Amino acid sequence: MSSYLQDLDLNRIPAHVGIVMDGNGRWAEQRGLPRTEGHGAGEDALWDTIQGAVAVGVRWLTVFAFSTENWRRPPGEVRYLMNFNRTMLRRRRDALHEMNVRIRFIGRRNWRIPRSVLKEIQAAEAMTAANTGTTLSIAFNYGGRAEIVDAVKDIAREVRAGTLRPEGISEATIADRLYAAETPPPDLLIRTSGEQRISNFLLWEVAYSELWFTSVFWPDFDREILYEAIRDFQKRSRRFGGLGDEP
Ligand code: IPE
Ligand code: IPE
Ligand code: MG
Repeated sequence: MSSYLQDLDLNRIPAHVGIVMDGNGRWAEQRGLPRTEGHGAGEDALWDTIQGAVAVGVRWLTVFAFSTENWRRPPGEVRYLMNFNRTMLRRRRDALHEMNVRIRFIGRRNWRIPRSVLKEIQAAEAMTAANTGTTLSIAFNYGGRAEIVDAVKDIAREVRAGTLRPEGISEATIADRLYAAETPPPDLLIRTSGEQRISNFLLWEVAYSELWFTSVFWPDFDREILYEAIRDFQKRSRRFGGLGDEP
């Protein structure tokens, strides 16, 4: 067993880990490079993190790749990120498929996303749909508020159609209409780059997630730091509003 797996309790691996991959721009700026170089360098970090998560049996891994607010960035950076995500998918999807990883995208698939990127997303999802290992959800053109708005729209349509009564709406009604309804909520939410905020990631789902922050910029992240976060997670007592002694 490699040294950095030491002290990791393999019987208590979080089922779902979410990651806000932040700090690419600052990583590049520190080196006098254009911000886009930081996004490029983030690919290695993501690749090592995915392999590390699969190796210890994380069942669900959700990574924040592009937010509904990231369209506010300069057009050149947005264009870079669109192309980058497309080519990264093409480069990695066969290896992920070999690893029995199911690739899935969450977010709005609308006119803003270039057709070539949508095609690549659909191809990766179709290729890996039947895989039974880790599910890798890539949050792309994703916003937690947008996700709730989309669920509310669905609910409104069903009420109008007479298939749902307002009195019958519960938390489960909303949870069932989120982008990846069958995914359990994240047990552990990691954010890199020193920022301690959610930035519109999985708002509904993180209600009881354990939060873990590191000042490491995303391109410097790797499985070793993932395991550090998991080790920390394993020391925490989750109470869900109760007293923590429930099974
Ligand atoms: C995260 O890195 C990647 C995306 C948001 C697409 P940033 O680009 O936000 O890097 P910083 O936070 O400006 O350093
Ligand atoms: C969150 O990071 C989005 C992604 C990592 C894709 P941002 O860099 O966009 O968040 P803020 O602007 O610092 O809140
Ligand atoms: Mg950022």
